[in-house]
Amino acid sequence: MTITRAVPIGVGHYLPTRVVPNAEFMNWLDTSDEWIKTRSGIERRHFAAEGELTSDLAINAAKMALADAGLEANDIDAIVLATSTPDQTFPATATKVQHALGMTKGFAFDVQAVCAGFAFALTNANALIVAGQAKRILVIGAETFSRIMNWEDRGTCVLFGDGAGALILEAQEGTGNTDDRGILACDLNSDGQYNDVLYVDGGVSSTQTTGVLVMQGREVFKHAVQKLAQTANASLAKAGLSHEDVDWVVPHQANIRIIKGTAAKLKVPMEKVVVTVQDHGNTSAASIPLALSVAKQRGQIKTGELLLTEAIGGGLAWGSVLMRW
Ligand code: UT7
Repeated sequence: MTITRAVPIGVGHYLPTRVVPNAEFMNWLDTSDEWIKTRSGIERRHFAAEGELTSDLAINAAKMALADAGLEANDIDAIVLATSTPDQTFPATATKVQHALGMTKGFAFDVQAVCAGFAFALTNANALIVAGQAKRILVIGAETFSRIMNWEDRGTCVLFGDGAGALILEAQEGTGNTDDRGILACDLNSDGQYNDVLYVDGGVSSTQTTGVLVMQGREVFKHAVQKLAQTANASLAKAGLSHEDVDWVVPHQANIRIIKGTAAKLKVPMEKVVVTVQDHGNTSAASIPLALSVAKQRGQIKTGELLLTEAIGGGLAWGSVLMRW
């Protein structure tokens, strides 16, 4: 029996030119490079230039993914773009990317699940491919979190960065077993009772302003390791695989202590975990596709290897995707 699998065939990323080291925050905040590094693992992050939009970052990442796959824009049927920092309230940033790439057919839309956005976007794209709605989908995570920082809040503004990553999924025939390339299992969760531990204090229907990010860091931390391990194990169980089968964990890059704690709970050694948080900070929905693309450049992930991605963020929303590269 053959089944349809959504197989990764190209990956790319883009980071704005401006690199901001931890020390820069000491110019106006009571903080230190030591505190930021020890508590989060972050050493530097990229910030978009004035006038540089989330769609600009996404377009650059998408072009790199298209080149990696050897495809033209019109070979793509759909764009699913995860972001919480869209260019405008509407239209969807995905449609701006669609037009800029020269895509004259198909459809494009945004997904909003904050830092878990890429897991939600991948799961939606996988479902569209399996249902026969699209043959090739460009899945993007793109963010300009520097636009929603409270620069006086040392507990948040030192943690986030800007960037974009893109992955192209293609419908291919598989045998239905776990040796198939492509997405093998997905697991999504959210629980709105935790809305107030991580949110932006503005919005269209409430304040008619954009607002800034507010986080109870310690509270989010408490949920993170437990919920990330739970969702990662759920995807493994759905596929009938175990932690020993995993070649790479590609986690959301929020905090090295969360990444290490989750890996330990999953019983996956850190040698098998892709870590980019030191260079990118927390880029929300962009962090996993950025890490995938950087890991490929480093020569870490190779065709046929089993990848487990997991992420958690505002909502709370959390999820995981298991795929064979
Ligand atoms: O991607 C979305 C999901 N988000 C996350 O996963 C973030 C989860 N949370 C975290 O990563 C961590 O909780 C933080 C990195 C945000 C904070 O680390 P922590 O170890 O939980 O520190 P804390 O919030 O408990 O703060 C410890 C101390 C506090 O001082 P007191 O109250 O103990 O005197 C803070 O005021 O550190 C202080 N502090 C800072 N000190 C220097 C907070 N931010 C800073 C700072 N520099 N930037």
